[in-house]
Amino acid sequence: MTVHATGRGQRPEVIPEQSDFEADILAGLAADPKRIPPKHFYDTEGSRLFEAITRQPEYYPTRTEIGILKTRAREIAEIIPANSALVEFGSGACTKVRILCDAVPALTAFVPVDISGPFLNRQAAELGHAYPRLAVHPVAADFSKPFSLPQDVRGMPKTGFFPGSTIGNFEPHETAAFLQHARTVLGAGAFLIVGVDLVKDAATLNKAYNDAAGVTARFNLNLLRRINRELQGRFDLRAFSHHAFFNPERSRIEMHLASVKSQTVAVAGRSFAFRAGERIHTENSYKYSLASFASLARGCGWTAHASWTDTDRLFSVHVLRTE
Ligand code: SAH
Ligand code: AVI
Repeated sequence: MTVHATGRGQRPEVIPEQSDFEADILAGLAADPKRIPPKHFYDTEGSRLFEAITRQPEYYPTRTEIGILKTRAREIAEIIPANSALVEFGSGACTKVRILCDAVPALTAFVPVDISGPFLNRQAAELGHAYPRLAVHPVAADFSKPFSLPQDVRGMPKTGFFPGSTIGNFEPHETAAFLQHARTVLGAGAFLIVGVDLVKDAATLNKAYNDAAGVTARFNLNLLRRINRELQGRFDLRAFSHHAFFNPERSRIEMHLASVKSQTVAVAGRSFAFRAGERIHTENSYKYSLASFASLARGCGWTAHASWTDTDRLFSVHVLRTE
């Protein structure tokens, strides 16, 4: 996808191009074991369901990170240069940036980057109305690939913002590639503020991804609904079930969709056979220690400037700086 960035007050316009959705789905359903990259959760309904997850009592990351950002807002304000642009990777509902906007008058421009184009446009427009002094330049792009920033912010000092522990949805080699790419996008001397979920007892983690209201299950199953809608898929959603569990050897939550019976499903004119119990691996959510994340970042050319946690040590926010 490409965005045509606009100036202050104008409507952001996103022009969708052919995405790799179809290619990834067809390859992932043909693979053994079956797998689909988690970035494909986020059509508009997926974005809406993620926001609903953040309101579930079991899903501690969002409210915990918001608490850390509010507590540390003055320290964050000190590292953001005057007349600068904040670039948020995976901006979603643009909720957390409001904490920074309230605390950092020096912020002139905001570049929310997200794969969920129409949802991004709506959230960016709402943020622009709430903060009229802020120039909002949305970029609909896949941040796991190279992309460029809008012309409007090219000459400005930039700070990166990657909250939510979305970095945990990358595989370790993808995290390294992202951190290297972010150095290029943000420029020499830039800071990157990253939210990282911490490894903890399995019970707390398992509950966070198996909420009692079943919202995470709906988020997972929405992937099949999206395939049905966009790729003429014939998935029967009642014939698949949500599975999420902590894998301590890999320090990650794994999400899967399991076929409840032996069946064949048509997608985009092709047929995919499922054994009873066979799974599609839909997401990993890696959990780090403070030290393991800092060491990963160091290996990618970022030095730790600060790292903060909540008093229960559930979640962390790291401030990294390019060397
Ligand atoms: N930053 C928000 C939202 C986190 S949810 C918060 O902290 O609450 C993850 C967000 O990243 C979603 O909005 C999703 O659309 C976006 N996203 C996931 N993978 C992406 C990718 N490869 N490229 C761009 N955006 C992506
Ligand atoms: C966006 N990302 C960090 C969430 C996570 O916790 O890994 C996505 C999510 N998947 C299930 N619940 C939330």
